[in-house]
Amino acid sequence: MKKVLTLVLFASLTIGALAGCGSSTQNSGGSSSGSKDSKVNIGCAIYKYDDTFMTGVRNAVADSLKDKANLEMVDSQNSQSTQNDKVDLFITKKVNSMIINPVDRTAAGVIIDKAKNANIPVVFMNREPLAEDMKKWDKVYYVGAKAEQSGTMQGQIIAKYFKDHPEADKNHDGVIQYVMLKGEPGHQDAELRTKYSIEAVTAAGFKVQKLAEDTGMWDRVKGQEKMAAFLASNGDKIEAVFANNDDMALGAIEALKAAGYFKDNKYVPVVGVDATAPGVQAIQDGTMLGTVLNDAKNQGAASAKLAEVLAKGQTPSKDNTGFEIKDGKYVWIDYKTITKDNIKDAK
Ligand code: GAL
Repeated sequence: MKKVLTLVLFASLTIGALAGCGSSTQNSGGSSSGSKDSKVNIGCAIYKYDDTFMTGVRNAVADSLKDKANLEMVDSQNSQSTQNDKVDLFITKKVNSMIINPVDRTAAGVIIDKAKNANIPVVFMNREPLAEDMKKWDKVYYVGAKAEQSGTMQGQIIAKYFKDHPEADKNHDGVIQYVMLKGEPGHQDAELRTKYSIEAVTAAGFKVQKLAEDTGMWDRVKGQEKMAAFLASNGDKIEAVFANNDDMALGAIEALKAAGYFKDNKYVPVVGVDATAPGVQAIQDGTMLGTVLNDAKNQGAASAKLAEVLAKGQTPSKDNTGFEIKDGKYVWIDYKTITKDNIKDAK
């Protein structure tokens, strides 16, 4: 009896160990088909898992590579040196290609040098490497969205609101007094959304005055804290709130609610970017005026497809990826304006 029990225990431990082996690898699950060995191996490093929009992108990458590749996805925990270690590990494991969402986009050059030495193609996403780094090697690609476009769309939402609602100029001075919640300084999306959103408002014929600007680092709690500080020093002088992403816009909305906004006719327009599920819900609720869809699904799908094609030793093209490749190495996914009128487009 004891012998039987020992055998059962041994067998279950062995099965458990086999099942647990490579548990950080998200692969097809179809390993029983016996085709696992023919699949390419792809390493993917995300700048940090704790980011609402990037969670959507990494889920899309994993979904797209399901059944197609052995994908190892890792969290760089917002540390470039951690990410460099992860890249070294991918290289030691001889993955066939890598998808990298850099922590610091100016550090992409170092990653490109490593990849080139090991002849492992790399697809960067969401944080755009400097143009001179992109030129270092022909097997380097970037998948992202044109930050200028998202800024312009935010500005157009605000401009339309002020055209339709002249009373939104609360002090009737003919100038829109605004505050700006910026993403991470140096990030192309933070710098360009900040610039182009305001340019779109002035291009529509409005005068603007910046009352305050600070970084909320893409983070909801920080967005709330910064907005509370803006309200403490500017009070009801604020006529519009620009946030470089939805998480910070939602934080700002919390601070505004605490200051009595969104009831008894007390309102200020708030715009974000991303069209995350809570962002879209806020538009539905009437607290957020509008956002810009940052297409996580297609950015993830394009990154995955390019990495898969490169891992097989092919050169990405519209034919083998389904995505237009610009200037030999860029895939640009369009943004889309989202307001209450077309909320369905954000799903
Ligand atoms: C932006 C996005 C932000 C944040 C950032 C991370 O494109 O709008 O919410 O996710 O990327 O790099």
